[in-house]
Amino acid sequence: MMRVGVIGTGTIGGPLIEALRRGEIAGAQLAGVLTRHGTAESPTTLTDLLEQSDLIVEAAGQDAVAEHGPAIIVAGRDLLVVSVGALADEQLLADVSGGPGRLYLCAGAIGGLDLLRAATASSALTTVRLTTRKHPRSLPAGVRESAEPDTSTVVFDGTAREAASRYPENLNVAATLALATVGMDQTFVTLISDPHAQKTTHVVEASGDIGTYRFEISSRPSPEHPATSAVVPLAVTRAVRSLAEHPAVSFV
Ligand SMILES: NC(=O)c1ccc[n+]([C@@H]2O[C@H](COP(=O)([O-])OP(=O)(O)OC[C@H]3O[C@@H](n4cnc5c(N)ncnc54)[C@H](O)[C@@H]3O)[C@@H](O)[C@H]2O)c1
Repeated sequence: MMRVGVIGTGTIGGPLIEALRRGEIAGAQLAGVLTRHGTAESPTTLTDLLEQSDLIVEAAGQDAVAEHGPAIIVAGRDLLVVSVGALADEQLLADVSGGPGRLYLCAGAIGGLDLLRAATASSALTTVRLTTRKHPRSLPAGVRESAEPDTSTVVFDGTAREAASRYPENLNVAATLALATVGMDQTFVTLISDPHAQKTTHVVEASGDIGTYRFEISSRPSPEHPATSAVVPLAVTRAVRSLAEHPAVSFV
């Protein structure tokens, strides 16, 4: 049985904790939950979590990856990261990539990374781009106020490295796409504030000698935290299920 510790009890962590508590993930059990400061109901510390867990799921934010990630990996525990944008920091990326624990990056709100990774393997991808369109309520307050109230506004245009650092709650997917393909400084990102957007849309485009790829993902934002698409808790739960289960048939 894989023992799973969870950091963060919000929009993403909450449903995963519930699924583990209810025994809905075959082969996995809840080992403990780490909140920002510990609470009376959950006084767990990182030391407790390291003792009790085989896999620790970060569902808390980029700061939590920096705060806890290296200690988890050095202790030989596996780490599933949701706030992948934290790895725009080269030193942190090196610290969590060195083992002995294994680092898993959750695809979260986007998809198609398996195919893009295959295309990247031959160095045949020359262009990788993400265009994300969100309703202003899914963006940070300062950005929301600076965008046009009635029309679409490009609020950011730059590299995945800049995107992940400047929009820690909004553009983690930029870092995931970059790490899966041509890197943080070669992956380009445009963020659009769109007051008419009903859904959060990510358009992933990649091309090169080997082919041309385009994925468009349109997801409903979570009502309780519109920065996070409603599909993300499901993506994280699916990732834990993939690591815990030993099904007869797997997609690889
Ligand atoms: N990869 C993706 O596709 C994707 C998509 C959405 C969000 N995210 C990332 O996931 C994070 C969590 O999203 P959410 O919607 O669940 O946010 P949320 O605000 O609903 O919940 C965050 C939870 O983490 C806790 N927390 C924050 N910092 C912590 C720390 N240092 N230690 C322990 N607990 C801490 C908070 O108390 C809260 O319980 C986001 O900040 C973002 O970085 C990634």
